[in-house]
Parts: sequence; C-alpha cells; structure tokens
Amino acid sequence: MTDTAPSPHDTLSPEQLRHADNIKWTFYGEDVLPMWVADMDFPVAEPILAALQDRLTRSIGYAQVTGDPVLKAQLIAKLARDGLMNLIPEGVGFLPGVVPGLYAAVQALTQPGDAVMTVVPIYPPFLSAITDHGRVLNAVALTESKEGWRLDMAALDAAMTPNTKLLMLCHPHNPAGRVWTRAELEGLADFALKHDLWVVSDELHADLRYPDAPEYVPFAAVRPELAGRVVTLTGPCKAYNTAGLGIGAMVSHNPELVARLEKATHGIMGHASALSITMWQAALSSGAEWLAETLKYLQANRDFVSAFMARELPEVPYTPPQATYLAWFDLRSHPRAADIQKYLLEEAQLALNDGLNFGSDYQGFVRLNFATSRALLQDGLERLARAVKG
Ligand SMILES: Cc1ncc(COP(=O)(O)O)c(C=O)c1O
Repeated sequence: MTDTAPSPHDTLSPEQLRHADNIKWTFYGEDVLPMWVADMDFPVAEPILAALQDRLTRSIGYAQVTGDPVLKAQLIAKLARDGLMNLIPEGVGFLPGVVPGLYAAVQALTQPGDAVMTVVPIYPPFLSAITDHGRVLNAVALTESKEGWRLDMAALDAAMTPNTKLLMLCHPHNPAGRVWTRAELEGLADFALKHDLWVVSDELHADLRYPDAPEYVPFAAVRPELAGRVVTLTGPCKAYNTAGLGIGAMVSHNPELVARLEKATHGIMGHASALSITMWQAALSSGAEWLAETLKYLQANRDFVSAFMARELPEVPYTPPQATYLAWFDLRSHPRAADIQKYLLEEAQLALNDGLNFGSDYQGFVRLNFATSRALLQDGLERLARAVKG
C-alpha cells in the first residue's frame, strides 16, 4: 500500500458534501454513502477558483464563434505534449461536454440502420448514443483474465458486419480502467483501416493515469494513415473535477470531420459557457500541481482498495485500474447477483453503479468511485465487505 503525507483531500465530511448540491450526494437518503457517479469529492483547485472569481468581475457576453483562440492554442499545445502532434485550430471544436460529442459523432458519421461497434462493459452513454438514434449496437465483450481486461481482436473481427461504419473507443477505458497499450491500439487501428471505419476515441480520462500504467498513446497518433478517420474527444472534467461547468472538445487531424459533427448538431448543441472556458484555461495553465497531488492521493486510494479487497474479499475478481478512480467488481457469484446494486443499497446503505447499465451481460458487476477521502473510502469498503459476506 502506498503511504501519503496528510492531504487536504483527507478532510471531507458528508455534511459538507451534501451541500455541494450534486447528484451523487443528493440522489439517495442521508444514511447512504454515495460512491457512484464519476466525479471527485475534492474541492476544485485554487488557481481555477481564482480564475473564475476574476472572470466574474467582467461582462459575460457571447464567446468567439469558432471557439476561444487562447484555449484552442493551449489545448493544441497540451495534446502535442501528450503525443497528438500537428493539430491545427480548424481541427478543434468546443462542446458543452464530452457526451454531446459521442452523440454528435453517431449522428454525423452514420445513418439510421447503420451499426456502430464498441466494446463492453462501457460507460453507458456510449450505448445510448448508438441506440437513441436508431443505430444498431454492435457490442463486443472485453475478455477478463488475471492480467486484467483485454481487447478480443478475434471477437471484433467476427462481429464485423458490412453496415458497421463507426468504432467507438474509450481510452483509458471506463469502467475497466485500462490504458490500451500501443500494440493493442495498433491492432485496433489496422482493424479500422481494413474495415473502412470512422473512429471516435473518448480520451477524457487520459490525465488520470497512474505511474505504473502503460505508455499512453492517443489513438489518433498510432498510425499516420489512420489520423484522418479519428475524432478524439477530451475535456477537463475528470482530471479537474469540473463536470458541473460542462465543456469538452472534439479534435481531429481532419478538420472536415469536426465540421461534420458541428453541422449535424448545428443549432441544437449549446456552446461552451464563458466560465467553462475560463476554467479550462486555468486548468491548463496552472492546474498541474493540484492534478499531481490529486493523482498521488487517488493512487494511494487505488492501492488501499486493492489491499482491502485482497484481505477482506479475495474471492471477488478485481483488477486495479491503470487510470482513473473507478473500481469494477465482479460479484456475479454472489447469491444476490441478480439485484446486487439494490441489495448493497438496502443492506449496506452503499450506492454503487449497477453493472447492467454498462452492457446487458454485466448484471452482477458494480462500479465503485474511490475519489473521496481515505476515511470515507474505508467506510464504503467496510459496508461492501459486510454486505457481501452477508
Ligand atoms: C468516458 C467518459 N466520457 C464522457 C463522460 C462525461 O463527460 P461530460 O460530462 O463532459 O459529458 C464520462 C463521465 O464519467 C466518461 O467517463
């Protein structure tokens, strides 16, 4: 287990958190410990707070029609540092969030009746973005082994159909916590090229990688000949805990793709708000220290979860994530697997995400969000262990 010095993230109280007025802390009763929705219980970074306070001293008019140029330049520079080089301003479009980008990609790059491929389990809006618009869900299961969750290229090949037009990737992956390796991404890139697929790669969790994760390679950087087919989605909300301000970006080496997504949702998709732009600028210019400290805290939480599970619930299959703060537990062998989320809620007053929402075969799995203080995490894990042991 990794040890950390005392951290400001240690001092959270449920009473304070309920006042934050967010869905995680207000959806269930006060006796319930909420460890479901993927945001962090930590307060926002000081430099972001200061920038927002300063921004409020000026008028709040319409932002630039083609996207804030300062933020575009900062984002292009940041993505280049991550390995996504040579983007141009026309290849960047802002969104009111990353989920709108998933929906826009399905709308813009496929027709009703086309199939869209993704791997399951997966963050639920991937599934609804496909089915809400009358597209056919072509879902391929990841394989699970002692080494963790893996892409199954043979299963992807077997599931391929002539009307599959788009591949939706989550990298790092929610909920499996995988940072896909270069070799895995090369396999997927060759697959997309062979089958003439568009690709949308949601890389929203990329800044929450742990030091022991494989090297991060943005999907659009894997093969030069692939870049023109890929729209990458990114945003600040996971790394900086700013989901309530709503902003994301779609970026591509093929500006025509960004224009297509914009056109498909023109007049419907709201613009990114002035405060969200200020927030993201501040995160990129001055958020690094907070992010590094937070990541260290999350890593220690992740290791705390691993040690706890190995000690108290060794029979529960679990692979610690390489990125982000979500633990994905396999409780399929529990007698209450058929309604495990409800059972944990009623028996332990512990709110986790229900596996079923991540794919129709994932009943019996639950997802736990460990981005909270160590004390609240310990409370949550103890509730889990008591209820699972019955
Ligand atoms: C992979 C992934 N994409 C998108 C989102 C949500 O993004 P936004 O709130 O910017 O729409 C989440 C939230 O958990 C996520 O895990």
